Amino acid sequence: MRILVTGGAGYIGSHCVRQLVQDGQDVVVIDNLSRGHRNAVHRDAAFYQIDLTDTKQLTAVMREHEVEAVMHFAALSYVCESVRHPRRYLQNNTAGTIHLLEAMEVAGVKRFVFSSTCSTYGIPERLPLDEQSPQRPCNPYGQSKLLVEKLLRDLVQADPSFGCVALRYFNVAGCSADGALGEDHDPHLRVIPILLETALGQRESFTVNGDDFPTPDGTCIRDYIHVDDICSAHRLALDGARPGEAKFFNVGLGHGYSVNEVISSVRRVTQKAIPVVIGPRRAGDPAELFANSHRIRTELGWVPRFTQLDDIVETAWRWFRTHPEGYRSRHINHDAGPSRSAPVRQMDANLSEQQFAAR
Ligand SMILES: NC(=O)c1ccc[n+]([C@@H]2O[C@H](COP(=O)([O-])OP(=O)(O)OC[C@H]3O[C@@H](n4cnc5c(N)ncnc54)[C@H](O)[C@@H]3O)[C@@H](O)[C@H]2O)c1
Repeated sequence: MRILVTGGAGYIGSHCVRQLVQDGQDVVVIDNLSRGHRNAVHRDAAFYQIDLTDTKQLTAVMREHEVEAVMHFAALSYVCESVRHPRRYLQNNTAGTIHLLEAMEVAGVKRFVFSSTCSTYGIPERLPLDEQSPQRPCNPYGQSKLLVEKLLRDLVQADPSFGCVALRYFNVAGCSADGALGEDHDPHLRVIPILLETALGQRESFTVNGDDFPTPDGTCIRDYIHVDDICSAHRLALDGARPGEAKFFNVGLGHGYSVNEVISSVRRVTQKAIPVVIGPRRAGDPAELFANSHRIRTELGWVPRFTQLDDIVETAWRWFRTHPEGYRSRHINHDAGPSRSAPVRQMDANLSEQQFAAR
C-alpha cells in the first residue's frame, strides 16, 4: 500500500515509518522538522519538508505518489506548552489536520489513521478509562485532538467512502528494540527520558512532581506503552479503517506504574544511582490514568509485545546510552544505514517544563 505518514521524522512517526518500510509498504513522509529529525526518517521512504497547512503541496505529494492512506502523527504534544500557547495548539493540531483532510479530499484519499490521546478524557471519573468514558479535556492539547475526533465522526457521515481510525495513546515510551531509532526531544519532558538523562549525568537530579497523591506510594500512576506496540496498533488500524466508519480505540497496557516504580526500574536497568528531589504537584495532574484496552484487542486483534516496565526501559536505555546526543550522535543506524544528515540544533537538557512552555 502507498501510505503518507505525517510527522514521520518525529519519535513515534519514525518508528512507524521504519516498520512500514520493513513490511514492504511504499512510504512517503511529510514533516516540517519543527520537532523532528531528518535522519530519523528511513532512507527508503520519500521525504518532503512540508507544513500541514500547505494544502497545495500536500495534495501534489498525494497525487504524485498515488497515496492510498494517511497516518497522521504530526502535532505539537506538550500539555504545559498548550496551556501557555492555546492558539498555537489549535492552529497546528486542529487547523493543520483540517488542511490535511482537505488535501486528502482533493486527492481522493479515503483512509485515515489519527494519533489521538488519553488527554481527550481529562480528569477521569472512574478507572480504567474505556472508550465510552466522558471526554472532557482539561488543556488545549487534549481539546485540539478532541475537535479532530469530532470532525472525523462528521466526515464519515458526509462521505460514506471515507473511513478512519483514531488511536488514543496513553504514555508512549521506549525505543526500537534494536537501538536503531529513539526518542530525541528538546527538551525531554517525559518521565523515562528525563530519568535516563539523569542516569547519563546530563541532569543533576530527577524531580518527582508530588508524592502526596492518593496512590499506594503517593506518586502518580500512568499507563506506559512501548512505541513498537503503538506501531503494531497502527498497522492493524490501517486494515481496520472501513468506508463509512469512524472508530476510536484506547492504546495502553491496561495497568499503570507509579513514578516511584519507574524510578526503581530505571535504577535496576541502568545500574545508576538516580538522585531524586520531591517537588510540588503540577496543576491538573490526575493521580492515576490507565486504559481499558479491551476494544482494540478484541476488534483489531492487537497484542502488545512489551508488557513489563523493565523491558520498555531497557530499550530506551539502549538508545540513550549509545546516542547521548540523540540524532546528533554519529552512529544512527536504521537497519542499518542512516538517511541524510540531521539539522544541527541546540539541546538544553536542564530546561524546565515551565521554561520550555514560556518559549
Ligand atoms: N508521545 C506520546 O506519549 C504521545 C501520547 C499520546 C499521543 N501522542 C501523539 O502522537 C503523535 C506523535 O507524537 P511524538 O511523541 O512522536 O511527537 P514528536 O514531536 O516527536 O513528532 C511530531 C512530528 O510532527 C512534526 N510536526 C509538528 N507539527 C507539524 C506541522 N504543522 N507540519 C508538519 N509537521 C509537523 C514535528 O516536526 C515532529 O517531527 C502526536 O500526534 C501526539 O499528539 C503522543
